[in-house]
Amino acid sequence: MLSSLFEAEKYLAAPAADPDPDQPGAPAFTPSAIIGASVSRIDGPLKTTGRASYAADYNFPRMVYAVPVGSTIASGKIVSLNASAAEKMPGVLLVVTHENIGDMLRTPANGRSGIGEGRPVMSDNMVSYWGQYVALAVAESFEQAQAAAAAVRIEYDAQKPNLSTAFLDDPDIAMNVASRRGDTGAAFPNAAVQVDQIYSTPVETHNPMEMHATVAVWDGKSFTLYESSQNVVGFQNSLAQALGVPKENMRIISRFIGSGFGSKLSAWPQAVLAGSVSRKLNRPVKLTVPRKMMFTATGHRAATQQRMRIGASPDGRLVSLEQNYRNHSSIGDNSRENCGEATPFLYSVPNLLVSSGIVKRNVGTPCPMRGPGAVPGLFAVESAMDELAIKLKMDPVELRLRNDTLIDESNKKPFSSRHYKECLQVGAEKFGWARRTPAVGSMRAPGRPDLVLGWGVAGASWSAGRRGCEATVVLKSDGTARVSSATQDIGTGTYTVMAQIVSDRTGIPINRIDTVLGDSSLVPGPGSGGSTATASIVPAVADGTDAAVKSLLALATQTAGSPFFQQDPAKLTLSAGRVCPIGAAAAPGVPFQDILRMANAAEVSGLGHPGGLGSDSKAGDCSMHSFGAQFAEVEWDPGIARLRVSRVVSVVDGGRIINRKTATSQMLGAVVMGVGMALMEQTVYDPRNGHPVNDNFADYLVPTHADSPSIDVHFLDIPDAMMGQYGARGIGEIGLAGIAPAITAAVYHATGIRVRELPVRIEDLLT
Ligand code: MOS
Repeated sequence: MLSSLFEAEKYLAAPAADPDPDQPGAPAFTPSAIIGASVSRIDGPLKTTGRASYAADYNFPRMVYAVPVGSTIASGKIVSLNASAAEKMPGVLLVVTHENIGDMLRTPANGRSGIGEGRPVMSDNMVSYWGQYVALAVAESFEQAQAAAAAVRIEYDAQKPNLSTAFLDDPDIAMNVASRRGDTGAAFPNAAVQVDQIYSTPVETHNPMEMHATVAVWDGKSFTLYESSQNVVGFQNSLAQALGVPKENMRIISRFIGSGFGSKLSAWPQAVLAGSVSRKLNRPVKLTVPRKMMFTATGHRAATQQRMRIGASPDGRLVSLEQNYRNHSSIGDNSRENCGEATPFLYSVPNLLVSSGIVKRNVGTPCPMRGPGAVPGLFAVESAMDELAIKLKMDPVELRLRNDTLIDESNKKPFSSRHYKECLQVGAEKFGWARRTPAVGSMRAPGRPDLVLGWGVAGASWSAGRRGCEATVVLKSDGTARVSSATQDIGTGTYTVMAQIVSDRTGIPINRIDTVLGDSSLVPGPGSGGSTATASIVPAVADGTDAAVKSLLALATQTAGSPFFQQDPAKLTLSAGRVCPIGAAAAPGVPFQDILRMANAAEVSGLGHPGGLGSDSKAGDCSMHSFGAQFAEVEWDPGIARLRVSRVVSVVDGGRIINRKTATSQMLGAVVMGVGMALMEQTVYDPRNGHPVNDNFADYLVPTHADSPSIDVHFLDIPDAMMGQYGARGIGEIGLAGIAPAITAAVYHATGIRVRELPVRIEDLLT
């Protein structure tokens, strides 16, 4: 049992949050001190001592190894594929190609099965991106499989790949209107102050520490796939379909995950290949995706090009806001990057148009990456707002405050809880924004006249979501509790948050609560995507706990010998792990395990199964989002042309915070990721053949500790009544949403150079 290994830290007391004062209907609810406390991850000791098993850590008797071969062209077709030498090499069992996969893998006739890449793997001889799976060598050892993969001979008929990033120049792209009000065509040209600029964001590649991997075990009837998954339930459904077995014959295990950032929301071809090979050979198969292929065949953040047109009155009121953008997708899939997610409701503006188009490029299929759409979208929107503030000679915080709105003007709905204004105000206060002098290059680091400071700000937003899901809670006669659900902890703290909710409602100490997740055979839990896992699982665990407690209290009144025999269970409660009368001052009560023992019951259990937001009509009347404001300081050393992000203040309105420590860690990581987005990250394709030339950790730059600024995170911690009793919204993606535009605004403030094409390169500043 996992819990025997858990060593939960004593939790700290934290002030209880007040309900949202803007929500007079919000139920009064005061959780115990464990909610909002800085509880260390209960899975932390397992991870730091190496006892946590990730997908590739599983080994089985008779297991074989599969090593993929990726295409070395980005467009064209395979004209000959010779695997005969590879097949004769020592230990080699099989070389899978498009010529022989047919009898192993029959994909469903109804097309897409929810695999990240829509085209069934190796289904024909066509190649549309560099690094596409074209063969798979399977052998007794990893080294033998690797040698065989290298011995597969392939000839291609190569075409010149299309990798142009001038997306807005592509003719005849179908236009999708996401949001429209008023008439921007009439309003913009007449606006007194105008910004009309194009912003570009590059391909970024997800680089979770734990690479994609599948260990597939076929038992003659059913599959068990050890996966690195952000959504074990989703993987169960899509892989059952892709491999042609009933859902109940597909089990996904992802106990621990070295993050995913969106790349593990869907299964990728390696899972399908590992599964089909394990069935064909009737042996367990391990297929780990090499880091290089994670730059091609497991998704990426799509590149975007966005034209922003903003018009304002001389007093800084927006009159027109237009965002027209395009993102690339692969040849085979239409993947839209929702860059306009926040644009329709972030500010008050009478005339608005958000429109988009998809262009086809010879790249692998893109997929969500932390804050998909909104993050590149807000880079454009918030950069344009900064440019507008400069044209208006207005403080950029003031410009945003002046255009705040209390209703979502795109659908006329009130917000369930919106505190964007407070985020800006609190952030300005914590950052010391009042000391900012607006002139370019006018500020210096204290005691360092050679270091020019730049200060920038940007707003942030991310949608609030709560999905219907289930959780089971069991109270056991050994004095422990168990909470389980087929969700997963991608490093965000889900294990710990689930235990905290049980503890809050029972008073059972957290080190006596066993959390079980990461297994699709448990009751269906939420995916860890779109910052919705916590918001979804918390109400399910709360309901499941209450159901278990209800059964316990009934038992206490039905069991002869119980001190509560024949009492009214409605007058009892479970407090500090003991059954006692409600309101009885200092009643010692009876430990819950004693009640179970008196009843000769091993356990009582409860199932929580709340619906999602879609089933809540009150929520349907609201516009639901998280908000934030992010302030960045850069130090520019013109003598040696060095740019550093030195300081970030991130203020987030994400509803009630359940665990301050894990929530803060999310925000810290998001800031570091934002520094990477602003200054470093870009997957560079060779225009001749589509090869991502920086497909490794030496060349794909991400921030190190030395690149990371000092970071101050602040949560408003205002519960959102529409998110259930605890009022928790998600906080994964919001932390990244404003970082890059805040940094480029700071770069402008320091240097006078506006970088509209990420990442900022030192060459941009050497003018
Ligand atoms: Mo997030 S892109 O939903 O992992």
